[in-house]
Amino acid sequence: MPMFHLGWFTNFSNPPWNHPWAGTEGRDWPRGHAHVEFTRALERACFDYVMLEDSSMVSDAYEGSMRADLKHGLYAPKHDPVALAPMLAAATERIGIVATASTSFYPPWLLARRFATLDHISHGRIGWNVVTSSEDRAAQNHGLDALPPHDERYERADEFVEVVARLWDSWEPDALVLDRDRGVYVDHEKVHVLDHRGKHFATRGPLNLMRPPQGRPVLCQAGGSPRGRDFAARNADTVLAMLSDPDEMKEYRDDVRARMVAIGRDPDDCKIMFITTPVLGDTLEEAQAKAEVMRTPSETKIEVSLAHMSAVSEVDFAAFDLDTPIADLDVRTNGHQSSLASFLKNGNTVREAAIASMNKVLHFVGTPESVAEQMGETMDHVGGDGFLFTGNIGRRFVGGITEGLVPALQRRGLTRTAYNHERFRDNLLDF
Ligand SMILES: Cc1cc2nc3c(=O)[nH]c(=O)nc-3n(C[C@H](O)[C@H](O)[C@H](O)COP(=O)(O)O)c2cc1C
Repeated sequence: MPMFHLGWFTNFSNPPWNHPWAGTEGRDWPRGHAHVEFTRALERACFDYVMLEDSSMVSDAYEGSMRADLKHGLYAPKHDPVALAPMLAAATERIGIVATASTSFYPPWLLARRFATLDHISHGRIGWNVVTSSEDRAAQNHGLDALPPHDERYERADEFVEVVARLWDSWEPDALVLDRDRGVYVDHEKVHVLDHRGKHFATRGPLNLMRPPQGRPVLCQAGGSPRGRDFAARNADTVLAMLSDPDEMKEYRDDVRARMVAIGRDPDDCKIMFITTPVLGDTLEEAQAKAEVMRTPSETKIEVSLAHMSAVSEVDFAAFDLDTPIADLDVRTNGHQSSLASFLKNGNTVREAAIASMNKVLHFVGTPESVAEQMGETMDHVGGDGFLFTGNIGRRFVGGITEGLVPALQRRGLTRTAYNHERFRDNLLDF
């Protein structure tokens, strides 16, 4: 069985604060130390990367109020992951660090400079999660009334990524000459003006710093729509997918790979990672009992599920009675199209869809040994390339994975036991 990759999907926000095994992280997280400790644990387990998602709003899509968002700490409070990245880089040696930044809000030159700087600081371990953003509420924080239409956002993103890549290339790799005899620090003939004037962006260039160590930081993306998959196929080194059915996982991966081949890319140059929350126990019975508790709906869980869906689709699901048949809903979004479509597909009523959505992350349930076995079998069926864990970053849950599950994966030869390279992309493309 071939090896696969591991990552963790999280953000720079509040870890669990009110469950029985929550420590002091719920209060202390704003300083970043909980995330540093967490990332070190992932590095000990030889993860490829930690991925920090982001958004830039306090949502009031649900019942036209910020109540649910703030009460449950859903989209806020959330700190800027780009600012956390240097702390994580300073505390680690090999793990990749992916921060999210939006092509709808950053100017390309600023983003190119910031991620090039981070790539230098981390010695070639930075990734950029390229998002187009999904919420008008976020757009309004950046001086826009609304986001551009869905497909236009991707069109802008294509040009954005192209310009950023050219800015990273604006310094030739050997521009820094440090020639003491001639007194030359940088060879000006190896630094180039772009004069880019495109449909959406204009920038003169060059960047005012050296080419990033990786040339181009690792690009990460998550897009489920056909337009999103094309974007991923053209640009991404790694793609995140939230699917729980192994056949659908395989179909998705095959599709993105086929799109890569169609534009002349080697499909092995992009690692498709599936999000999962394993439920671990000392015995199968203990794990199953935990999974049962997780799956059991409550009023709070239904509210959280609907408030999430409202935030990313900006459809107010509080406006519908929970027993409203899905067939009677006429809802559309300019936000996450594939998320809304999958939400509406999975239930006959709003209540059922909320419960299904709450459980839609792929769950492997069992002891570390049996979950390792199941993960291997699933990867075998799908064809690759790895998993991104998600779930609370409290010490107990993380420890179960890094100290229990990962060693079981390693004993089976399914995940790495040491990093072979210094840089993020080299480790990601190692197998
Ligand atoms: C696992 C996952 C993580 C995502 N992370 C972010 C994020 O951090 N910030 C963001 O604005 N959008 C994020 N998105 C949204 C995607 O970038 C994309 O906009 C969304 O999936 C809709 O794409 P589609 O319309 O092509 O399906 C994420 C989506 C998924 C599935």
